[in-house]
Amino acid sequence: MAVMRMGYVHARVTDLAEAKNHYANTLGLYETLAEDGKVYYKAWDEWDHHSVVLEEGGVGVVKFGFKVEYESDIDLIEKKAQDFGLTVERMSKGENPEVSDGIRFIAPSEHVFEVYHGQTLIGTEVGTHNPDAFPRHLVGVGVPARDHALILAEDVRTMENMFGAVFDFFPTERVQTDLEDKDAHFIASWMTANNQIHQIAVLEGPQAKFHHFAFKLGDWTEVGRAGDIFAMDDVPIDIGPTRHGITRGQTIYFFDPSGNRNEVFAGGYPAYRDRPINKWTPDQIAKGTFYHARELNERFTSVYT
Ligand SMILES: [Fe+2]
Repeated sequence: MAVMRMGYVHARVTDLAEAKNHYANTLGLYETLAEDGKVYYKAWDEWDHHSVVLEEGGVGVVKFGFKVEYESDIDLIEKKAQDFGLTVERMSKGENPEVSDGIRFIAPSEHVFEVYHGQTLIGTEVGTHNPDAFPRHLVGVGVPARDHALILAEDVRTMENMFGAVFDFFPTERVQTDLEDKDAHFIASWMTANNQIHQIAVLEGPQAKFHHFAFKLGDWTEVGRAGDIFAMDDVPIDIGPTRHGITRGQTIYFFDPSGNRNEVFAGGYPAYRDRPINKWTPDQIAKGTFYHARELNERFTSVYT
C-alpha cells in the first residue's frame, strides 16, 4: 500500500484566537504546536503530531498532506505523478514542523497536495498499554479523529483518475449524468485508500476551493450531542443532524468562526476495493446529500471557501 490516508488538512482562518476557541474548546482538539502564526492540532485518538493546521490570513485551504507507509513510496508516487503529467517538487524535512521529507505537487483541481512518509509520533490520549475506551476529561464534542474533506474541481473525472493513478485511491460512490454511458459526466466522486467510506470527495465547482472538512464521531447519539454543544457555543449550523444517502453517514454541517465549513460524520459502511461503486443520478442528488429532507439548501450548494 502506498498512500495510507489523508494525514493533514491545512486551512486558513481570519482570526486565530477565535479559531482556537472553536477547534480546541468546541471540537476538543489538542494543540500540539503554535509557531509562526500557525497552530497544529491532533484529536484524542490520533497518534501523529497533527491532523489539522490553521494559519491566520483569509479562509479556505492551504494544502493537504497524504501519508504513505514507507519512505520508498515517495519515489514511486513521484514517478506516478510525473507520468500523470503533474509537476512535482521535493519537500524537505522540517518544511512542515514535525513532518518528514516528501514531495509536493499541484493537483488538476489547483489544490496543493503534499506526500510524506513520517510525522513525529505523539500517541493517542489513551496510549497503547491497556488503553481505556476514551480520555476521561474530553473538552466540548471531544472528536476522536479528523475524517474526510470535500474539495471542488472543474473536472471531477480527471481528479478521480488522478487519485487512482497516483495515490491508488478507489471510488466508493459517484454522481454521474448517465449510469450506463462510459463517457458520462462526473458531478461528484467519493474516494478512499482504505476501509473508510471516503477520505476525500471531489464535487464539480470552482478550482482550488473546498467545501468542508470533517471530524469523526461514533453514532447518532454522538452526532446529537455534538449538535447540543454547538447550540451551547453558538456555532452556526448549516444543516443537520441528518443522514447522507451517499455514504449513509450521519452528519451535522456547521461553520468555524471564519466561515470554513466543518462536519461531524458518523457511520458510513466499510469500503472495499472490489465492492461495486454506488452510482447516483443528478435527479437524486438531493436525497443522496440529505436523505431525510431530500432537498438541498441554497447555502450548502453555494457557500465554500
Ligand atoms: Fe462530508
